[in-house]
Amino acid sequence: MNYSAVILAAGKGVRMRSQMPKVLHQVAGKPMVWYVIQAVKEAGINDITLVVGHGRELVEEALADENLNFVVQEQQLGTGHALMQAQGSVNPGHTLLVLAGDTPLLEGKTLKKLLDFHQQQQAQATVLSALLPNPYGYGRIIRQADGGLERIVEEKDADPEEKEIAEINTGMYCFQAGTVFTALSQVQRANAQGEYYLTDVLPILKNDGHKVAVLATDEVDHIHGINDRVQMASAEAIIRQRSNQKLMKNGVTIIAPETTFIDSSVKIGIDTVIYPFTIIEGQTSIGENCTIGPYTHINDSSVGNDVVIESSRIKEARISNHCNIGPFAYLRPEADLQENVKVGDFVEIKKSIIGAGSKIPHLSYVGDALLGKEVNIGAGTITCNYDGKKKSRTILEDHVFIGSNTNLVAPVTIGENSMTGAGSTITRDIPADTLAVERAEQKHVRWKR
Ligand code: UD1
Ligand code: CA
Repeated sequence: MNYSAVILAAGKGVRMRSQMPKVLHQVAGKPMVWYVIQAVKEAGINDITLVVGHGRELVEEALADENLNFVVQEQQLGTGHALMQAQGSVNPGHTLLVLAGDTPLLEGKTLKKLLDFHQQQQAQATVLSALLPNPYGYGRIIRQADGGLERIVEEKDADPEEKEIAEINTGMYCFQAGTVFTALSQVQRANAQGEYYLTDVLPILKNDGHKVAVLATDEVDHIHGINDRVQMASAEAIIRQRSNQKLMKNGVTIIAPETTFIDSSVKIGIDTVIYPFTIIEGQTSIGENCTIGPYTHINDSSVGNDVVIESSRIKEARISNHCNIGPFAYLRPEADLQENVKVGDFVEIKKSIIGAGSKIPHLSYVGDALLGKEVNIGAGTITCNYDGKKKSRTILEDHVFIGSNTNLVAPVTIGENSMTGAGSTITRDIPADTLAVERAEQKHVRWKR
């Protein structure tokens, strides 16, 4: 059996009250339609057509790496009309999954069950339904006396009795492609919204003598359609909870999952402990046996094993094994810490390599610098890397000791084993094995108060 999928994603999403197309709104770090695409791929389907319209350039650009076929729905005349636009890109002999782009909680296993049931029933169409305690807003499943599907009624078209029905249409369907495209041409737009409803194709198929089945899923947390930002926040919480649980099952301790926000793209090794109020985002990997947080925000960084990071901001940085960071450190892009580095409180590091065993314990700015092994930077030291026009480099060779409150005016190089006196402003290179002191001699004047 050959399978294809069509994802409807042309709508504006009026209820989002946004300039941006609904399906691009991010949930846990990814556009909501991205999750739908992953679920389809997990179910083993790679022939995927996306129906785009509102903000289509943005949608196509955001999903350029997903290997999709795009078809355009110029005017958004309803879900039935949207599916019609995909006719040319789907093989009529295929079994076709039809999904909406606004269900980010969807997982592949739910789709597999739908496909299996459809096959087993030998149906021409199968609708996935769910029983919801609060069915408001969804289309309701109207069943016949014998339990078979009669039709689906939208919230806006339902009478008070129909609104009482708790069984809803998830908006996920399986069809025999050729059959559904033929039947779609008969769908009318005589309803409250004046749209071509995809749901209306089901009674048409039945009247034409085709088998229409309903599968009621018990995975009710997986099917929610997101129409506004309140529902989006609920979906975000569920996805966050899922990725925290996955990490915990894989050996990561998360002390307070409800305060911990970790993107699903983040990788973390076993026996690492995440303290409360920590956010880890993007392409970040963290090794084994680390302690991260509390109050730490990391994005797009790599962290080795046995690293401690407390109350710090880490952005596009690299931290090797056995480093100790914070509290209150700020590592900016291209900060590259080799093994056993110590970075303490109120230290900012940008675009600098810090050699193994070096220490920058307090109150420093280090930018555009190269530090060798076991360099020690005294409290309050800064690299003066910017003269208002250009950035220049500071080089500190192995075992250099910088006295407290030194200004290193770049470009400047300090040779191996050399030292600066506290409070010096260093403007010239210092050779190896040298102590450089630059400050006025201390004067004593007789004085009485
Ligand atoms: C739809 C279903 C409803 C179901 C619900 C499940 C219909 C008529 N109603 O309602 O029975 O309970 O989903 O979440 O199908 N879209 C287009 N082009 C259009 C209109 C919509 O591509 O012209 C896309 C949207 O971008 C969206 C999806 O189709 O991704 C669903 O549209 P939406 O307006 O959210 O439908 P609902 O009102 O939620
Ligand atoms: Ca919807």
